Amino acid sequence: MSSAALVEPVPCGRAMTRCECSGVPFDEIARRVCDEGQSLEKLQAETGCGRLCTACLPDLHDHLSARG
Ligand code: FES
Repeated sequence: MSSAALVEPVPCGRAMTRCECSGVPFDEIARRVCDEGQSLEKLQAETGCGRLCTACLPDLHDHLSARG
């Protein structure tokens, strides 16, 4: 058995900070939602953030919740 077979994947606990598919940083979305009062749904339609693979959505929602 090779040593590679003993290596288990280690989950990365680092949160995403932008939508990798659209390239939109979460700070930009948060600024427009929290400071300018724009709707998240409208921004998603406009920018594509969270609309393709959707992997960023949990971290985007956490980012927005933390911003309050
Ligand atoms: S990373 Fe945001 S839609 Fe894919």
